[in-house]
Amino acid sequence: MKLKGKVALITGASSGIGKAIALRFAAEGATVVVNHFNQEDKAREVVEKIRSENGKAIYIEADISDETAVKAMFAKIMERIGTLDILVNNAGRQKDAPFWDMSLQDWNAVINVDLTGHFLCTREAAKLFLQKETHEDEMPGNIIFITSVHQNIPWAQRANYTAAKAGASMLMKTAAMELAPKNIRVNAVAPGAVKTAINIENFRDPNEKEKILRKIPFGKAGRAEDIASAVLWLASSEAGYITGETLFVDGGMELYADFAHGG
Ligand code: BGC
Repeated sequence: MKLKGKVALITGASSGIGKAIALRFAAEGATVVVNHFNQEDKAREVVEKIRSENGKAIYIEADISDETAVKAMFAKIMERIGTLDILVNNAGRQKDAPFWDMSLQDWNAVINVDLTGHFLCTREAAKLFLQKETHEDEMPGNIIFITSVHQNIPWAQRANYTAAKAGASMLMKTAAMELAPKNIRVNAVAPGAVKTAINIENFRDPNEKEKILRKIPFGKAGRAEDIASAVLWLASSEAGYITGETLFVDGGMELYADFAHGG
């Protein structure tokens, strides 16, 4: 039980990577807050699954790009559970188009969730952590961002997404710097291609699938559970001296796979 007694908020936890993190954290003893937006049935299913395995969980709806909704979510956590130890900034979205054809609306839609939403949740979590009275060696809180290999790798038709992920990476590092003297750790996990709702259409199309797999030295997509174990490790005391770091969980995607064939 690596997270026994801890309370963790996971944004976008009604499906995909967020759901896998929620299930894993609950199995390791954490009380999990499953955040969702417009996916109440799915969020309830996650909570029911956790409870059926003797874990503890609640779900709270909030659009993380809406400041008022984010503040209300943190207030609800304090009201219903009374504390928070871990924030996982997971919620994300994509809206693809060549950048010269991208509407401001689609640009903002992605930046508002994948970057501003992470800022708002990080800020509110940090405020709670900073108010805690802890002993010298105790860590009042821990924040983990889910970014992407695309915080580093440019990606055509996704200028909004890559800019948001690169921005989230710098936000993570700057927050880590500001919070380190307070014993609060901030890190990131950068997934590669994991089959979830965000990209499932590409995996269904054989040509697109083959294009994705060619970019992965392991030759296969990652599982949401692979991401969850990395997040668990960063959230646990085993990673107690690590802050401002990004752990890539990508089957080698960052290794420029095309160069494996020489030429
Ligand atoms: C994207 C996926 C994509 C993967 C690898 C992720 O950040 O959300 O759609 O398959 O990066 O390119």
